[in-house]
Amino acid sequence: MDHLITNYLTIDQPHKILSQWISEAECRDPNAMIIATNNNSKISTRTVLAKSISHEGVKFYTNYNSAKAQGLIKTGSISATFFWHNLHRQVHIRGTAVKTSREDSVSYWNSRSPASQLSQYISRQSQKCPSKEHLQTLYKEAQETFKDQPVPCPEHWGGFLIKAEAWELWMGQDHRLHDRFLYTMDNGKYIGSRLYP
Ligand SMILES: Cc1cc2nc3c(=O)[nH]c(=O)nc-3n(C[C@H](O)[C@H](O)[C@H](O)COP(=O)(O)O)c2cc1C
Repeated sequence: MDHLITNYLTIDQPHKILSQWISEAECRDPNAMIIATNNNSKISTRTVLAKSISHEGVKFYTNYNSAKAQGLIKTGSISATFFWHNLHRQVHIRGTAVKTSREDSVSYWNSRSPASQLSQYISRQSQKCPSKEHLQTLYKEAQETFKDQPVPCPEHWGGFLIKAEAWELWMGQDHRLHDRFLYTMDNGKYIGSRLYP
């Protein structure tokens, strides 16, 4: 896409560039992003997969009891970074995250494989787990319980929508004279600026 764009300053839908770059990155999990959250003034980061990208924002799914979700429920504050080594490009988003509707979470849950549903169903994400055997036993028990019926989406599992306040696109260039473009909302429209690299 970048060779088609003559002026990054006038882009008004940066999410479309993100989708394009994900489609161009030939690597495992090109939709992986590192998200930073704040829980009681402690900042922590981890990787999640972006499952939908639109003008509304970027969605991911998780366990609402997890450390990240608890931080987000308290503060809403989030920062997300995508990096593709082979493209030498980065997208950075800052904004707030809100829970998606239960309907949205269930609909995404229902699109997942039974194996993913079972592993999420039994996971007490971010809590201490006594052993691998314990995890395997829980999995087998759940497999038995749900062998003839669908695995229900737990109440504590669902999505977050990151509503971006700012987007930054970064493209590596020769001599480290990299391109950086920042987009911030002004009167319902994104305004682009070039930043020093
Ligand atoms: C490539 C990759 C993708 C991941 N995707 C997700 C995801 O979409 N949702 C999720 O809850 N955890 C995902 N994880 C696991 C998280 O990185 C993290 O370990 C887990 O969510 C617990 O984080 P927390 O304790 O900080 O809340 C992924 C990990 C990797 C390496």
